[in-house]
Amino acid sequence: MDRIRIVGGQRLNGVIPISGAKNATLPLMIASLLTADTLVLENVPRLADVRLLQHILGNHGVDVMIAGKRPGEPDNAGQTLHISAKTIVDTTAPYDLVSRMRASFWVIAPLVARMGEARVSMPGGCAIGTRPVDLLIMALEALGAEIEIDGGYVVARARKGLRGGEVKFPKVTVSGTHVAVMAAALANGTTVIDNAACEPEIGDVADCLNKMGAKISGAGTPRIVIEGVAKLNGARHAVLPDRIETGTYAMAVAMTGGDVLLQNTRPELLQAGLDVLVKAGVGIVPTNEGIRVSRNGSALQPVEVTTEPFPGFPTDLQAQLMALMTRAKGTSHITETIFENRFMHVQELARLGARIHLDGERATIEGVEKLKGAPVMATDLRASVSLVIAALAAEGETMVNRVYHLDRGFERLEAKLGACGAVIERISG
Ligand code: EPZ
Repeated sequence: MDRIRIVGGQRLNGVIPISGAKNATLPLMIASLLTADTLVLENVPRLADVRLLQHILGNHGVDVMIAGKRPGEPDNAGQTLHISAKTIVDTTAPYDLVSRMRASFWVIAPLVARMGEARVSMPGGCAIGTRPVDLLIMALEALGAEIEIDGGYVVARARKGLRGGEVKFPKVTVSGTHVAVMAAALANGTTVIDNAACEPEIGDVADCLNKMGAKISGAGTPRIVIEGVAKLNGARHAVLPDRIETGTYAMAVAMTGGDVLLQNTRPELLQAGLDVLVKAGVGIVPTNEGIRVSRNGSALQPVEVTTEPFPGFPTDLQAQLMALMTRAKGTSHITETIFENRFMHVQELARLGARIHLDGERATIEGVEKLKGAPVMATDLRASVSLVIAALAAEGETMVNRVYHLDRGFERLEAKLGACGAVIERISG
């Protein structure tokens, strides 16, 4: 298994190109199942999760063509995928595939909407929580699907097609909202979703579906209205920038000090995260190329943050902020309200000398003068990058093990940080 070796102490200066959003790419690829025409997705990040989803879609009979490099295309350009679900040969998504990437469970929506049936393995839990799918099932039932749990699989049927309905989510769920929108796009009649997730990725998928001929309004607000259509067509869509990658690298610069332009991204995608960094004493300047992040000598100030659904502070930046706050001048508090077990990084940060106390969903971080490098273990995607952030400012060498977690969500992380002066290398094997 690959490891990443970091020697801390270098400031970061230069440019980091931000890739397309993983959490938009996955539902957009799944949305290709809604049409027999070809969906062309641009600015797709080169990530392990994207490659795995290509494999999963292939199991349903979907062809995925990756366009080669074009003349004048910059090295860090995203890839272009041509996805054709002309004929769906299998409406079953097996356990051995779904268990490896939870979001693949979302194929249940386009499969039952287009084919009238789907048999998808329950995804099971993961490191950060039990991750139930009860609200996704509730949404499909509200649209007329008959649901049965059989041998660890969710079987959804709608022989006469889905019908428009009211989907009222008791709590905000990104996956539930994606599933409801994709299913409703081909339902007979109009669907209203109340208490929908407002994450930018929801809006990006709705924009793409509307280019395919869907009739969706209100995406990005808590109330989404979808007028079902009989058929969707192909389209071309560029994936929006990754707000979590943006926030992650902003926190890396804040941690080491320096001055970096985060290119091809937009501040409104993560305003709550940027506001917290400003409170912590970090320079944040939007430019027409992206966001300029700097900290030159000023001390990091402690902050009080609670994770919330968008537009609040994102849970996917919680671990990264915690790493940053280990070096603040004072005591910070971070409360995690979205997932029940998203503090796996705390023990690993402690190995680097961090002083963090947990009380249920609330973490108290006492800033320390310095961190010291040590071998640490990545446990989940965002926890693993919080270890990288801490290692960049730790004295001496840190070895981050099990970096396959990192490869799921961060494209060319070592190259992007190395280009700005970090001493970081991947050790294969
Ligand atoms: C998406 O997960 C993201 N994944 C997560 O990012 C992100 O942390 C999360 O949204 C919250 O923003 C993708 O987009 C691929 P939810 P999702 O449904 O959709 C509970 C990363 O690191 N819930 O909004 O699974 C659930 O247990 C990943 O990129 C139910 O109870 O999150 C959680 O407590 C990690 N029943 C809360 O709702 C359900 O049926 C929010 O979950 C569904 C969810």
